[in-house]
Amino acid sequence: MKTAVVYHSSHHGNTKKLLDAMAQEGEVTLLEASADSSIDLADYDLIGFASGIYASRLHESVLHCAERNLPRGKPVFVLYTYGAWRPKLTHLEKIVSAKGGQILGVYGCPGFCTFGPLKLIGGIAKGRPNAQDVAAAVGFFREVVRQAQGK
Ligand SMILES: Cc1cc2nc3c(=O)[nH]c(=O)nc-3n(C[C@H](O)[C@H](O)[C@H](O)COP(=O)(O)O)c2cc1C
Repeated sequence: MKTAVVYHSSHHGNTKKLLDAMAQEGEVTLLEASADSSIDLADYDLIGFASGIYASRLHESVLHCAERNLPRGKPVFVLYTYGAWRPKLTHLEKIVSAKGGQILGVYGCPGFCTFGPLKLIGGIAKGRPNAQDVAAAVGFFREVVRQAQGK
């Protein structure tokens, strides 16, 4: 199953840590959302959108890419890391639905955050994602692939 994951992971590389483990599972291409706005997703069977959470949402670059580049009718999954609060994914859900796609699953776990004054207390979610978070993300991805294959 050819999978592309459009991602942004700039704060501490927390989201990328999960994606690097997932990418060892097979035909997974990681595409950085901010680097290239002309990403072509047509040839992929399964599309992931992934980022840290910024101001309660997935990163703008990932949402923009979903808006511009998600082909019609694709199965989609979402992966994110957050400092303290799980986000609402309403914006992405609307984009996927408008394009006749389907979100097969969502995985989120805490990610080390030193934003603003949090730096003064050494950050929050220290040590996350940890080995268990990474293993859970890989398990999540396997399950999504199974679903996309209709098994
Ligand atoms: C500018 C900024 C805004 C953030 N906003 C939120 C937020 O609204 N909610 C939250 O739970 N975490 C927030 N965080 C924490 C990040 O989502 C968290 O550290 C995440 O793991 C970063 O992922 P990355 O290292 O892959 O970029 C914010 C971090 C930064 C730097």
